[in-house]
Amino acid sequence: MLGSLHSATEKNRIVPDIEWNKTTWTRNVPHAFKSFDIDNYGDHWGKVEETPHLINFRDRFLLPFVSPEVRALEIGSGGGRWTEYLRVCNSLVCVDVNEVMLDLVRERFAEQDNLDFVLTEGTDLPGVADSSIDLIFSHDVFVHVDPLEVFDYLAEIRRVITDKGTVVIHYADQDKVGAQKNKGFARNNPRLMRALIEHSGFEIVDEDSNIFNHSSVARFEPR
Ligand SMILES: C[S@@+](CC[C@H](N)C(=O)[O-])C[C@H]1O[C@@H](n2cnc3c(N)ncnc32)[C@H](O)[C@@H]1O
Repeated sequence: MLGSLHSATEKNRIVPDIEWNKTTWTRNVPHAFKSFDIDNYGDHWGKVEETPHLINFRDRFLLPFVSPEVRALEIGSGGGRWTEYLRVCNSLVCVDVNEVMLDLVRERFAEQDNLDFVLTEGTDLPGVADSSIDLIFSHDVFVHVDPLEVFDYLAEIRRVITDKGTVVIHYADQDKVGAQKNKGFARNNPRLMRALIEHSGFEIVDEDSNIFNHSSVARFEPR
């Protein structure tokens, strides 16, 4: 299974470990605001409401699961592109590995009183109680998290999700040229991701490998 993961331009590859994720995104914030005409960090990757494939993803993997009763948690909230949709939930925990990102979301949604903010070390969800979250969502984050770290994160996700909860994770798919060409993409693919998810006590209830040209999506629930 791992053999095919080595087909990418291996000598140029970097490992997007936690340190890389801390420095890369923190540096990218001032760069993005200087280089692009954006109101919110993340819009330079596509405003959700104006980008057809993001609309498809949102309408299938996010909107059906948000509601005022749901206690939600977003991993890697960044500048809040998806927080915008998740904030209608009863409560929302915004998790990020970079404090600068949590500050962006705090500022953007300052009027909300249902948001909590958690700074992760990279695979943990400190202060989030066991079985306290109904929906966990993450987009454009696990594409940069390598499989062993994904496995550690899944254990934490299993700890905090309720028995009837649902989890949506968008992850790197090295079966696709788009991932192979991107040096910062993790060495993951749907076969490996399925194995990690199933070994962590979940069953996959929906999957997609068509929406994105460098990544795939899994929705899964506790077994
Ligand atoms: C490419 S940005 C995407 C932000 C947002 N999800 C979006 O789609 O606009 C990646 C975000 O994930 C965060 N991040 C990277 N590794 C992380 C980790 N291990 N746990 C939580 N957040 C992480 C980064 O700090 C950054 O905010």
